[in-house]
Amino acid sequence: MNEPEFNHDLAEGRPPLRLGILLSGRGSNFLAIADSIRTGRLPGVEIALVISNVADAPGLTAAKDLGLPAALYVSKGRPRAEHDADVLGCLKEHHVDLICLAGYMRLLSPGLVAAFPNRIVNIHPSLLPAFPGLEAQEQAFAYGVKIAGCTVHFVDDELDHGAIILQRAISVLESDDAHSLAERILHEEHIAYTEALRMVASGQYEIRGRRYVKRNQGR
Ligand code: GAR
Repeated sequence: MNEPEFNHDLAEGRPPLRLGILLSGRGSNFLAIADSIRTGRLPGVEIALVISNVADAPGLTAAKDLGLPAALYVSKGRPRAEHDADVLGCLKEHHVDLICLAGYMRLLSPGLVAAFPNRIVNIHPSLLPAFPGLEAQEQAFAYGVKIAGCTVHFVDDELDHGAIILQRAISVLESDDAHSLAERILHEEHIAYTEALRMVASGQYEIRGRRYVKRNQGR
């Protein structure tokens, strides 16, 4: 059983939980988190740093526009371990407590995962373990599922695999195509990420095997 090491409830006078956001593209999940912090829906949490591995990622520009510390480490053509060592150095420099993958389309090296045990979360646009990997919404639509959704989970060494924090499900409509389904899943993602971060920031949980279990429940 892994006990969480932090509880950043501001009511207890603890310092804010410092997020390091990793992204590769549009950044709508990052912006949803930033908006939740700005509007008080994520108390006790702050964004310490945004890192992109893609030079022209709109999410990186958005981070700069918001005045947040932002860094670019281009990953293309670089060995994974070497790239991630640079990313890790930057995260440490900014005293990041929790890494949030928000459309970060690159597998993390074992070294980076080990440096933040159960302190890396990812959002994936399917109900895992169904449809890991790329274009999950298109995979789900093509498979003909009737229920789709998104998953927020801790990150381990396998792709889209660690302990699940929460999932949000929607029905696939007769009128859906792959694009409209992806849009409706994205709407759920924005709600799910904030909810999951609130759950993690509370520190009131244990990870039992693959299970996120709220404290004082299920005993
Ligand atoms: C989101 O749908 C996210 O779930 C997905 O990339 C998109 C990023 O959008 N991530 C993955 O597929 C990870 N396996 P965003 O840049 O607008 O947040």
